[in-house]
Amino acid sequence: MALISDTNVMPLYGQAARESLEAQDLEVHSFTVPAGEATKCTERLFELIDGMVAARMGRRDVVVALGGGVVGDLAGLAAALFMRGISLMQCPTSLLAQVDASVGGKVAIDLPSGKNLVGAFHFPTVVLIDPEVLSTLPDRELSCGLAEMLKHGALFSPEHFCQVVAASDDIYARDTDVLARMVATSVGLKAACVSRDPREQGEAGKGRVVLNLGHTVGHVLEMLSDFELKHGEAVALGLVAMARLSQRKQIAPTPPAGAGGAGAGAGVAEAGEQGLEDQLRQALAALRLPTNLDEWLEDERASRMESVLANDKKRAGSSISFIALKAIGSPAVLSLTAAEIVSLLRDPDGDC
Ligand SMILES: NC(=O)c1ccc[n+]([C@@H]2O[C@H](COP(=O)([O-])OP(=O)(O)OC[C@H]3O[C@@H](n4cnc5c(N)ncnc54)[C@H](O)[C@@H]3O)[C@@H](O)[C@H]2O)c1
Repeated sequence: MALISDTNVMPLYGQAARESLEAQDLEVHSFTVPAGEATKCTERLFELIDGMVAARMGRRDVVVALGGGVVGDLAGLAAALFMRGISLMQCPTSLLAQVDASVGGKVAIDLPSGKNLVGAFHFPTVVLIDPEVLSTLPDRELSCGLAEMLKHGALFSPEHFCQVVAASDDIYARDTDVLARMVATSVGLKAACVSRDPREQGEAGKGRVVLNLGHTVGHVLEMLSDFELKHGEAVALGLVAMARLSQRKQIAPTPPAGAGGAGAGAGVAEAGEQGLEDQLRQALAALRLPTNLDEWLEDERASRMESVLANDKKRAGSSISFIALKAIGSPAVLSLTAAEIVSLLRDPDGDC
């Protein structure tokens, strides 16, 4: 079998993984790739596959992906392609990979022209999650996973949404009992959605495409920041944008006149006390994620945002299927042009 990890994770957990596999009399070939998004490329992919051929691996072998979403996506695609597909075991070690990237069967590499443009659906046979490995994950990476966990609550479960926020300090303290519970709930919510629509062929708003909540604007901000914003941080700002658009298209509640605002109160307010944007901002701030969307909406940035949005993968003609919320736990789909999205984000009277 191939044990694939990156230059950060292999020194931390590679030996333990190798020993536990060898204890089962399995022959292990280790491959270490450089840490970072740049590793999701054709060169690294074919180096891995060449290495698997040189190690005389066969169709009954297994790829074990030990690492964050980068390793999971790259090793997963190698498993999907080697000898027309061999089994894949995901052992995610970042919070984002545990709650999101390792679950759902999407594997991919990037091209210079864009992210995840070469990929496959290749479902793992096993996903093995150990919250203890999060003890070595930097806080900033942890926060990125929290953005995706909050997204799962926002889409499917008001209870999970509140629990993730309430557990913020315990999660940053790496309380493994709390982490185990929160991760399991988040994985369950995503897995239930994926199992209803494994290959993203469901009707707009009904299938796994709703998992793009916060990602339409998030991906654009990731690009506009030249990847200074990490994926989860960009998704956090994308969630603020989604909530603002949901309010300005009048499908989600707006705050009653005089009801404070983003800074009002503590914890997560009941619907009706706060508008959706304030609810999202407050939750994201409690999770130590960025919420200042307006700095990305100044003139020059706004026109760049509009042109990147106009090339969105999820557009049909000039319309973009924008995943919105009627309330926490209640997704909806809006059909908007890039110009409408930017103008509504900047100005409440943009185009309602
Ligand atoms: N396939 C999917 O459905 C899906 C979903 C979401 C994201 N993704 C992809 O996942 C990638 C992002 O994943 P990520 O945030 O895990 O990034 P990553 O894999 O780059 O990991 C983040 C950093 O943390 C390090 N790391 C991981 N686990 C660690 C640990 N336990 N201790 C110390 N350091 C550790 C890594 O070496 C890396 O430096 C992107 O390429 C994104 O496109 C895929």
